[in-house]
Amino acid sequence: MSRIYSCGILGLGSSLPEKVLTNFDLEKMVDTTNEWIMKRTGISERRILEKDVPAHELGVDAANKALKDAGISAEDLDLIIVATETPDYLTPSTSCLIQSRINAKKAAAFDLNAACSGFIYGLTVADQFIKSGYYKYVLLIGCEGLSKITDWEDRNTCVLFGDAAGAAVLGRVEDGYGIMSTYIGADGDLGKNITAPCCYLSCEDIEVRTRDNKRVLWMDGGEVFKFAVKVMEHGTNKVLEQSNLTLEDLKLIVPHQANIRILDGAAKRLGVSKDKIFINLHKYGNISSASIPVGLNEAYEGKMFTKGDNLVLVGFGGGLTWGSALVRWSK
Ligand code: ACO
Repeated sequence: MSRIYSCGILGLGSSLPEKVLTNFDLEKMVDTTNEWIMKRTGISERRILEKDVPAHELGVDAANKALKDAGISAEDLDLIIVATETPDYLTPSTSCLIQSRINAKKAAAFDLNAACSGFIYGLTVADQFIKSGYYKYVLLIGCEGLSKITDWEDRNTCVLFGDAAGAAVLGRVEDGYGIMSTYIGADGDLGKNITAPCCYLSCEDIEVRTRDNKRVLWMDGGEVFKFAVKVMEHGTNKVLEQSNLTLEDLKLIVPHQANIRILDGAAKRLGVSKDKIFINLHKYGNISSASIPVGLNEAYEGKMFTKGDNLVLVGFGGGLTWGSALVRWSK
């Protein structure tokens, strides 16, 4: 029988646009207040790409940083997976654009869309390629330019999102370390609660979700909120159970950052103290698939965990989708 390898994170990197859009800036754009946004979401500011800058620029920057951290060259990569719900083009994929820019000549490349759960979906896919021995090095990037599909006249959504990319190089690690377990799922019946039309608009889209047929992100926040709190708890417990671990064995949970009230609700349901949950959403808002790798990189740079520590990464989003992973840090 051929050998099963252990797959782990060899390097991390992230990239954020320089332009900061504060709640006070938004007060001048739509009927909202800093107080409402802080109280209802916990978000204070977000980073926004300039109009003429494509989102994959952030992906290139994050990828180069992750490669440097991993100590490998782009030429070593076998595969690039980009998780995104905001590709700059339908074709070429963002992964192909990045492959060209970083000169990863031998790497295959594809995009994957599971909205805010995309990084965990990508981690699950990469894990299979590495474990089986099919590939040695996979670059996974969560790369989003949400400002480009935001309706800047809709106060219900425009206060929530930002732009960013986060990257991880995945490869073989010592046995007993790395990705111990992953869990992904979807409920397409709930998909109508977060939509961003592309090549098609249904009558329902036109009647309910698109103002002036704008192809922008629309969300029923309340419905997503209820779903989010439940799957954060369920996803965390599921990967703990699959890894034969309990909450006491966990060093840190790095969740998708959408709303502070979702994180508080999930902490309460799980029965964990809030200091076990990494939070940076006040600075960046909801950056979709970039949220978990950017958060993980900040926690890593801040030395919030060390080799052997157990981490849970957990997310939810459009689709509706969810995903979680248990990672035993390996470097
Ligand atoms: N400023 C002031 N008032 C506002 C604003 C705003 N920015 N936005 C909404 N309101 C108003 C509404 O119009 C409503 O007024 P009304 O009562 O007169 O009708 C009132 O505030 C309450 O609105 P709700 O939507 O009930 O507010 P809620 O407390 O649910 O917060 C929010 C909304 C922040 C969107 C929340 O529901 C949420 O975070 N949901 C989860 C979103 C999420 O997690 N998405 C993740 C996936 S996203 C992806 O995949 C890209």
